Amino acid sequence: MTTLAQIEAMDAADALAGFRAHFHLPAGLVYLDGNSLGPLPIRAQARIAQVTAREWGDGLINSWETAGWIDAPARIGDKIARLIGAGKGEVLVADSTSINLFKCLAAALAMQPGRTVMLSESGNFPTDLYMMQGLAGLTGARCEVVQPDRLLASLDASVAVLTLTHVNYRSAAIHDLAAITRAAHDAGALVAWDLSHSVGAVPVDLESAGVDFAVGCGYKFLNGGPGAPAFIYVARRHQAAAPSVLSGWLGHREPFAFDETYQPDPGIGRFRCGTPPILSLLALEEGVDLLLEADQAALRGKQSALSRLLIELIGSHCEGMGFTLASPHEDELRGGHVSIRHAHGFAIMQALKARGVIGDFRGPDILRFGIAPLYLRFGDIYEAVTRLVRVMREEAWRRPEFNRRASVT
Ligand SMILES: Cc1ncc(COP(=O)(O)O)c(C=O)c1O
Repeated sequence: MTTLAQIEAMDAADALAGFRAHFHLPAGLVYLDGNSLGPLPIRAQARIAQVTAREWGDGLINSWETAGWIDAPARIGDKIARLIGAGKGEVLVADSTSINLFKCLAAALAMQPGRTVMLSESGNFPTDLYMMQGLAGLTGARCEVVQPDRLLASLDASVAVLTLTHVNYRSAAIHDLAAITRAAHDAGALVAWDLSHSVGAVPVDLESAGVDFAVGCGYKFLNGGPGAPAFIYVARRHQAAAPSVLSGWLGHREPFAFDETYQPDPGIGRFRCGTPPILSLLALEEGVDLLLEADQAALRGKQSALSRLLIELIGSHCEGMGFTLASPHEDELRGGHVSIRHAHGFAIMQALKARGVIGDFRGPDILRFGIAPLYLRFGDIYEAVTRLVRVMREEAWRRPEFNRRASVT
């Protein structure tokens, strides 16, 4: 069993330890929910103050040009591209993940005449399935949502596009992105990956896997802030042929010509729709920049070590308390969070939050602990498990106040 002395030694030897100082993390709190909402990068606070005072305050409308606001979606997209194995001009920051997925699926359907099925798996994040359903209602295309073990067998000549979330939001299980993309292509289908739980958390190489489309969140491991805009990736080889169904004015090849007929931008720019949220965009840029300063392989290594420690300590300190691991045991199959099942999971998480350990709960019985190596210490994991043991020993989760459901958890 790993001892506290060994855990302190791990923190002392951690080459990434310096990044923690770049985040605002309330004293005494153990924050294990960066897979849902990343904490505030201190530089983002300073950037927002500067942007509001100088660029918005003094520069006013001139700042679209003078402060580079107009280029921010593509500029930050190019930065995110470096985290997901994409090239310059293949990623754009815009809208929400849900909207971007809609754009990708609509483009894929249009590019595959004669194929009418959008395929996904049960257990995918609900918004992905909802966007498919909405698009099916508009286009007459069909949604097929199959059990995960039926996915590959369901790839037939009717499938226009397969859409999956790379890292499962409940279990953190990682799909084999390259192998599934290959299988979809062999069947003549396009693929659209949701990288919301992958970007900034696990290695992704879209180009070498030949991925067609991808989307992902800015507010999770990218630490872009609440409601940060999302990103969309469209492989360069598809850009000229992939129509943007949300043909807004900023996706026009010359938006400021105010032409009354839509003519798409020749590249990724066609997936812009309306005016980007500059304050949120520039806060996101700080989160992305910080992540890019870290060695990505070292980050993944530390994340695996932190996750292993959490699994080990829950296994040893909480033995016989009713917890079971809902995430894969193997590091290479597990993404950026660790999920644990317990019959009283909801109330346990509420009690844990009251003790200053923030994770989240996904029904019916999953406690999720986000493992963000940029700011977490091995000692935080130890502290979280120590407080969890206290909650369990005192049976704090039995208290009525921890059993009341809130609307956002
Ligand atoms: C896998 C996945 N996709 C999409 C979303 C939602 O994205 P958005 O709110 O940007 O539409 C989430 C949110 O948690 C998610 O986990």
